[in-house]
Amino acid sequence: MQSSLEPAYIQDFIHFEQHVAKLIHRAGWTVETAKTNQRGYDLVLKKDNLVGAVQVKWLKNNVTAPQLLAFANFLDSEEGKKFNFGLFVTTKGFGGPAQALIRSWGKNSKIRCVIAQENKLISFDTGIGIDDEDNSGYPKPNLPKKVYFGVFTCKGGVGKTTVAAHLAGALALQGFNIALVDLDPEKNLQKLVGDGIFVPNTTGIGTTIQVFDEGDWHEDSARDCQIVICDCSPALERNPEELVKRLDYCIIPTTLNPLGINKHGKVIQDTVKEIRELNQNAHLFVLVNNFKDPGVRRLKLLKNVYFDAYKEISKTDDKFHCIDPEEVCIRASDLLYYWGIHIIENPTNPASRLAFDLIGGRCYPREDFISLADYIETKAGIGFLRNH
Ligand SMILES: Nc1ncnc2c1ncn2[C@@H]1O[C@H](COP(=O)(O)OP(=O)(O)O)[C@@H](O)[C@H]1O
Ligand SMILES: [Mg+2]
Repeated sequence: MQSSLEPAYIQDFIHFEQHVAKLIHRAGWTVETAKTNQRGYDLVLKKDNLVGAVQVKWLKNNVTAPQLLAFANFLDSEEGKKFNFGLFVTTKGFGGPAQALIRSWGKNSKIRCVIAQENKLISFDTGIGIDDEDNSGYPKPNLPKKVYFGVFTCKGGVGKTTVAAHLAGALALQGFNIALVDLDPEKNLQKLVGDGIFVPNTTGIGTTIQVFDEGDWHEDSARDCQIVICDCSPALERNPEELVKRLDYCIIPTTLNPLGINKHGKVIQDTVKEIRELNQNAHLFVLVNNFKDPGVRRLKLLKNVYFDAYKEISKTDDKFHCIDPEEVCIRASDLLYYWGIHIIENPTNPASRLAFDLIGGRCYPREDFISLADYIETKAGIGFLRNH
């Protein structure tokens, strides 16, 4: 995927991490790799009484503010306090919001932010030229396994972007770092969530939702993310085949009204067939979005038609789940309807936010998306992620 013009040291994460370790080593430090799945940092560097944590960020684009905030929060946590300083090393550079953040920290910050070039770490004061011989003596990190979600329907306006972003929010609240990948040419995800969101929490480290454009996406750019959620293009064939093949779960939003069921029912059946041609393993969930309680009698009628539309697939496909809206659905809410108003309110410096604000102690979107995450975990299990 990488252009052949890229120098070898930024070819992929492994080469880059080795390169960074080598530059630091040349500058007189001892370098160690962190344990596989160690959260918060990739390398440890030591000299005399000084111990530093290094975050190696291999990116095709600039560093974002949430990525930096996650590292800053790690350094403030119990585990992070063991380090005298943190070094944040990246491939390309730092984006506008990230630069503003670094400036706001001032000169005495515990974090040094640098770009690793061929021969030196820029703004790392001890940068020394290196020769380019082999790196084979250096231990190769294992890439931690990730869980992939796709949010997909053949129709626009059903809630793909809304569901992708807020499912990310619900999972980030549970302690996972999430990569959101924008595969839809409309690019609404990037308009609404910017370059991502940092979600602080009480355990100290916090989590991030990092947003990637399709062109910037590479698994190694999100090594610290346990979960990847793709806001898919409504034309299945426009989504990168390798990503569709990787999906562990696919959420298919629909609406529970007579026309919605008629219109989407057939489309969803065809969609499932198409997905299955590429991917036989993903758990597929049909999810009712924009749910308005129609009253007991009508709900019963609508549910019959809804389940009937997917009866045939459910019989033959044991990984196809048609979620009972009485168990889990995403209710219609003003918070979701007006999500995005923050962009219009402040177009020059838009905030990144989700519709998870509390109103009188309740927040439908937050409750609904947490229930959705729980439902998926119960039905299909994301258990291995819990063991880290
Ligand atoms: N549960 C909901 N309640 C209220 N409005 C919603 C809900 N889900 C989506 N919407 C609204 O529907 C519109 C389309 O949703 P979006 O996520 O952009 O769809 P898609 O990505 O499939 O095109 C959004 O403007 C959003 O305001
Ligand atoms: Mg969309």
